[in-house]
Amino acid sequence: MTVARAPGKAILLGEHFVVHGTGAILCAIDKYATVTVSPRDKGVYVKSRYGELEFHDTDLKGAPEHHRPFLNIATELGMKVDTIIDSQIPPGVGLGSSSSCCVAGAGAMLNSSRDGVIETALRAERSVFEGASGADTAVCTVGGIIEFRNGEHKVVESDPILLAIASTGRIHSTAKTVEAVRQYRERNPKEFESACKQVKGLVGDARNALDSKDLVSLGAHMWLNQELLKEIKVSDATIDKIVEAASRTSYGAKLTGAGAGGCVIALVDDSNCQRTLEAMRACGAEAFSVKTDMDGLRVGQTLS
Ligand code: PMV
Repeated sequence: MTVARAPGKAILLGEHFVVHGTGAILCAIDKYATVTVSPRDKGVYVKSRYGELEFHDTDLKGAPEHHRPFLNIATELGMKVDTIIDSQIPPGVGLGSSSSCCVAGAGAMLNSSRDGVIETALRAERSVFEGASGADTAVCTVGGIIEFRNGEHKVVESDPILLAIASTGRIHSTAKTVEAVRQYRERNPKEFESACKQVKGLVGDARNALDSKDLVSLGAHMWLNQELLKEIKVSDATIDKIVEAASRTSYGAKLTGAGAGGCVIALVDDSNCQRTLEAMRACGAEAFSVKTDMDGLRVGQTLS
């Protein structure tokens, strides 16, 4: 039996734009998906919050979306396994639920916490959403804070940060919002190009803010990024309301992930975390705080 545990993620800056070649900064969070695999005689068995499935095929096209990534990994590696997924990460709200599961699945089946994991997990993720940038997969594997651009990641040497997170409770489809942004770009090429340029600048500045532990500056850049996300129409009235409320008490707030529902993150520290969570709850949102996970993927026979 092999157990693997991978963190979820929040995108501090650059979602959507990263699909179009800008950089992004991501942070692994201390909410986890755990995948346990053990050998079986034939086929692949998958059990998760979406139910159970026994699979004896090699053609994955018709396999249910939620189970397909694990079947993809097992088929690729020629493994016959029982795969049990247990996740603390709420699905479909931008906190890296699917990436974290793919990374833990790849880690467990490869019995490795790094070698080949990012690539295997990304192929699994792309078996469901072809357009995934790979940013989530990278940060859920290596942990900490990373800068991601065009398939490459660099670890940002930073202290852990604290985020207050509010869920709108509305699940989004990343594929649909990514397609909506592609259409926005087609209709508004000049505006989109200008927004991408600004995001590139914000990502560079935010990286400097992290290097110098300047939360005020980092938060201000997150807020500016939110304005650009509004411009490309992935924010909505509920997100805007929570961002506005959280901006009064935190260093800066924005949506995280695909938007159109999902979650809002606010950069906080111990001095303003509780006030920010209360401000988020006053908007009717479910709110909780998370810290940066510094370990990334862990793999073993047991995880204590
Ligand atoms: O909401 P999520 O966790 O699926 O975030 C996706 C982030 C995007 O930039 C919109 C897509 C991607 O693959 O980077």
